[in-house]
Amino acid sequence: MVDEPLRVLVIGSGAREHALVRSLAADPGVGEVWCAPGNPGTASEPGAAGNRRVEVGDGAAVTALAQDVGADLVVIGPEGPLVAGVADAVRAGGIACFGPSAAAARLEGSKAFAKEVMAAAGVPTASARVASTADEVAVALDAFDVPGVPFVVKEDGLAAGKGVVVTTDRALARAHGVACVEGGSTVVVEEYLDGPEVSLFVLSDGTHAVALEPAQDFKRVGDGGTGPNTGGMGAYSPLPWAPPGMVAEIVTRVAQPVLDEMAARGTPFVGVLYCGLALTAAGVRVVEFNARFGDPETQVVLARLQTPLGGLLHAAATGRLGDHAPLAWSAGAAVTVVVAAHGYPGTVRTGDEVSGLEGVAGAGATALHAGTARDGEGRLVSAGGRVLSVVGGGASLAAARDAAYAGVGALVMEGSRHRSDIAAAAASPRG
Ligand code: AMP
Ligand code: GLY
Repeated sequence: MVDEPLRVLVIGSGAREHALVRSLAADPGVGEVWCAPGNPGTASEPGAAGNRRVEVGDGAAVTALAQDVGADLVVIGPEGPLVAGVADAVRAGGIACFGPSAAAARLEGSKAFAKEVMAAAGVPTASARVASTADEVAVALDAFDVPGVPFVVKEDGLAAGKGVVVTTDRALARAHGVACVEGGSTVVVEEYLDGPEVSLFVLSDGTHAVALEPAQDFKRVGDGGTGPNTGGMGAYSPLPWAPPGMVAEIVTRVAQPVLDEMAARGTPFVGVLYCGLALTAAGVRVVEFNARFGDPETQVVLARLQTPLGGLLHAAATGRLGDHAPLAWSAGAAVTVVVAAHGYPGTVRTGDEVSGLEGVAGAGATALHAGTARDGEGRLVSAGGRVLSVVGGGASLAAARDAAYAGVGALVMEGSRHRSDIAAAAASPRG
């Protein structure tokens, strides 16, 4: 435990960062929490210190800001700064940082690297081929051409959840692969994994693994899992259908071996290893790793975490996770529904007025901000693809879902879109 109240700087500007700021501000062990660059939600979060400007990918600038606000801990939300080495710069500046080094963040930054680490660590994942020319794409597609089974083609780099095409249409799969290689990226073509998906966040101090409760994300833009992939349209936790022992099995078979492998390579992973998994008939398989908290899963996982967040992240950032007390969770459920701008995930329209936030609170839900901004007159307007993440809590998934959708119903934003089936199957009696 730390005696002095912690001073924390959160880097990022999405609903994930708003959720982090909210939980940190509620931690009695945290004295002050800033967000940079933040958004209108983090600026007005009760108990938080407000927003500061920063170029998130500039390690020297982030370090200087952390020094300026007297931060004991920097929490880096998005993958871009992590892959760019911002955590390395912060640590070199003598400040504890929750977030992996550039070398460790390659687990997210390169799907081919992640596959190599998994192979070395004996971690189960989809078999895959890497292609860097149109001919190699065709050969790789041949290797996975099974009638009725979708092709999976991934751009090998950061693509905000939009670089992956899963389709039974070979021509479409090929076109995506060729577009990627012609754009200078390599491509990973892999085996299709059939089964429900789970997002599990595993905190690490480089050695120890502490799993949070699992969540499920809804990646496709449309109801019923239709339309293109997005950054995530909603999430819920807990997973009533998850087999007993699932989390322990994922830690033992996936997270700990990867953490051990990264440490053995001299690039220990400090931060949160986001394990994206499919529960297939053949067992658990890794779909992807991310080197940061997921968005929108963080919004529901943190809504249920009762352990103070600041002390937990600080323990991870300072090599003390092995001594941390077991985590405490609310027995209830949380559901979040993302309200996106007109056009998302394609070209989005910005500048639409967003109103009705009092109604969200009145419905017992919380509106976490993502792509919002204040216009010249101080009105709240849309400023990005995913605009708000409305979080509902309750004793059951059904109650949490009702609260979240009541909140969404209170919002007014021209042309907005959201899915209407978030957590529907899991909340139903047969869920
Ligand atoms: P990724 O960026 O790797 O997370 O992929 C985005 C989404 O595409 C995943 O959440 C899955 O829904 C889907 N996906 C990725 N890889 C596979 C796979 N091998 N089999 C089936 N679906 C996949
Ligand atoms: N929700 C998916 C992600 O954060 O990558």
